[in-house]
Amino acid sequence: MSSAGTGLDRAIGAELDGLREAGTYKRANVLRSPQGPVVEMEGRGEVLVLSSNNYLGLADRREVVEAGIDGLRRYGAGTASVRFICGTFEPHLELERELADFSGTEAALTYVSCWNANEAAIPSLTDESTVILSDALNHASIIDAIRLSKPARKVIYSHSSMDELRAGLESCEPGQRKLVITDGVFSMEGDLARLPDIVELAREHEAVVLVDDSHGTGVMGKTGRGVAEHFGLLGDVDVITSTLGKALGGAAGGYVAASEEVCDMLFQRSRPHLFSNALPPTVACSALEAVRVLRREPQLVERLHAITASFRSRLRERGFAPLDGEGAIIPIIVGETAFAIRFSQRLLEEGVFVTGFGFPVVPEGTARIRVQMSAALEDEHLDRALDAFERVGRELGLI
Ligand SMILES: Cc1ncc(COP(=O)(O)O)c(C=O)c1O
Repeated sequence: MSSAGTGLDRAIGAELDGLREAGTYKRANVLRSPQGPVVEMEGRGEVLVLSSNNYLGLADRREVVEAGIDGLRRYGAGTASVRFICGTFEPHLELERELADFSGTEAALTYVSCWNANEAAIPSLTDESTVILSDALNHASIIDAIRLSKPARKVIYSHSSMDELRAGLESCEPGQRKLVITDGVFSMEGDLARLPDIVELAREHEAVVLVDDSHGTGVMGKTGRGVAEHFGLLGDVDVITSTLGKALGGAAGGYVAASEEVCDMLFQRSRPHLFSNALPPTVACSALEAVRVLRREPQLVERLHAITASFRSRLRERGFAPLDGEGAIIPIIVGETAFAIRFSQRLLEEGVFVTGFGFPVVPEGTARIRVQMSAALEDEHLDRALDAFERVGRELGLI
């Protein structure tokens, strides 16, 4: 080994030791069964999952899995190409038509992740005159996508501050393109973007609205079409980005849903589309089936809404103070990072998998336990989870 390599390893080793000492070193919990309400976890046996993005329980749904297997047989393992060379397969187009219709837009374009979709859309929609206005709590993929863009100016407004957004829009010069970017459901707070206000302000100032609805797709609105449906604004959001890796089957993949012109321009210009392989057809097939299951069974969304509301109020009855919210994310602020990690470890020992998040993912002193609901959780699972919460909450003095 070269001395430079050894030096690098030593420096990185010291950094990793720092993470271990701070109690923030991450270890993987290995699953031996499909993602579901109950999984088989290496070294722990059967564990209840209240921390996945499998909001509708479609990750191991028979039809979704079989559609993927069928896709694998018909189209092989992958595209072996980018989309515009020879990497566009029939299921890509079928899925994109379905996603556009589902999102209330003219068109859609898929990517291998929503991370990629954001990194495609945001720089491509930014020209040298553009002012980007972005919520301070937007997802990391939006933050990185903005870093890759070359706008005239950026305005990062405090979380959901419509006053700051208005002031930012008012500070723009005539003729500048204004791009307002927000998460639909904020992943660490579980709250929703103030979409009616954002859309109204954008109309007043002729701004473009981009909503990343990764945690809203399949979750918000009566039929799971996202925060736009929740607020009665389907068709009023210019650009929606979202993931296929959460409610819509959970495999991987993302998309941009927008006008024909925007999607065509992304096809022509967006770098993740031009320089990276397309979504494997097998994933496109299973995601397409996931959207179809959701259309056939809106009762999955109804159940998700019902159990989320009831779990939140039952946590309160047992002495916890979960944050308010309407999505399927229920954060419980516990204070220090080490405490959040200890709490989630104790819950796991009790057979309930819920992740604790601390600094630097969330501000110091606001570490939290993030509960995520899934329509696949049965009443008995929820009772069991609440009992474990109460036991651990009492033991650690949180309640
Ligand atoms: C708001 C938001 N955007 C984007 C992503 C990334 O999605 P993907 O896993 O499809 O890259 C996530 C995932 O955590 C997210 O929460």
